[in-house]
Amino acid sequence: MTREEEKVLDGEAGPGLKLAMEILVKLGDIFGAEKLIPVESAHVSGISYKTAGDAAIEFLRELKELGAKASIPATTNPCGFDERLSRILDLPEELISAQRELVSSYEELGLQRTLTCVPYYQHRPEPGSHLAWAESSAVVYANSVLNACTNREGAPSALAAAIVGKTPDHGLHRPENRKPGILIHVDFKPKDEVELWSLGFLVGKICKDKIPLLEGLKGLADWELKGLGAAMASGGMTALFHLAEAHGEPVAEGIEEEVSLGKEDVLSTIEGLSSSNEPDLFFIGCPHCSEEELELIASLLKGRKVGKGVHLWICTSRYIKERRPDLVEAIEGAGGLVICDTCVVVSWVERLGVDTVATNSPKAAYYLPGLSGLDVRLMSLRECLRSACTK
Ligand code: F3S
Repeated sequence: MTREEEKVLDGEAGPGLKLAMEILVKLGDIFGAEKLIPVESAHVSGISYKTAGDAAIEFLRELKELGAKASIPATTNPCGFDERLSRILDLPEELISAQRELVSSYEELGLQRTLTCVPYYQHRPEPGSHLAWAESSAVVYANSVLNACTNREGAPSALAAAIVGKTPDHGLHRPENRKPGILIHVDFKPKDEVELWSLGFLVGKICKDKIPLLEGLKGLADWELKGLGAAMASGGMTALFHLAEAHGEPVAEGIEEEVSLGKEDVLSTIEGLSSSNEPDLFFIGCPHCSEEELELIASLLKGRKVGKGVHLWICTSRYIKERRPDLVEAIEGAGGLVICDTCVVVSWVERLGVDTVATNSPKAAYYLPGLSGLDVRLMSLRECLRSACTK
């Protein structure tokens, strides 16, 4: 540690910074880091009261009392509702005020009220930049698509990094740890994003903490890569993947493990995540939709109407929603709801009185039954919109 960092640890810069530094030093010791390195931004999860609970409120109260403040740009993950949704779900006052306290505490600590899992559409990190991000889907996107460097932080360590502006130098911050450790041959062409992302979920499950190099996937759009990474990160611990087709030179050198995956493997993964019940809520936007996805949804909804008694929720960031009022109008004109600040998974969706959620996201399919007690059916974006509409 530098002399300056030691002073912070001794409390000379105030008790808030001291506590944040203690968290980072402890983590650095656990992972054998030799030093702290500066990070350009932090992204903090644990914003939804549904998943974070009272412990988060207590921790933030303590940090505020100690005078902690973010020293670098820091963004926040989705919370449990947006204002319109709190009315639709008829949320009790205690939940609303607990959630409001959580969000305003983060703001008082100097974090931005982005409330999205796709902060990279708002502030795009440069390749090679070092970050301290929680939210596994954002981490894997930052490492794999943007070629930035971040470990998969937890909410407290990302918050501590936001306050100190540094993180322990270990894991994916070091080039030698970013090499692939397992080669995955993809022996079929996924017919839609559900097959592609379920392949990702399976890859995550197989790789655990090894970095996969995928061979056989070509020409994927940004939103497809976003969902592919999110699925890997929820199926296992994946925080970085490589695509063989994206590299000009062979990167498979030194890899000792190889796995081939075919259509049958993916179909049984889909079967394991999906029920066959009739859905009454259709959810697109896990991770939050990009502008590209909103454009696609708006174009597919042209001339269609969402059926009576059926809900269509499209989740995106407030930033994107405000940038594209034309798309929001087109989607809501057809009977969908464009929801920001939250998502179906971290909101109290069970209060809507639905039984089965259709989604194209294996991540949502994996978490929703446990968090909300709902059945999930995996369907592609196109299938979801077709089934949700009467014409
Ligand atoms: Fe984002 Fe919610 Fe999915 S936070 S990654 S939309 S579970």
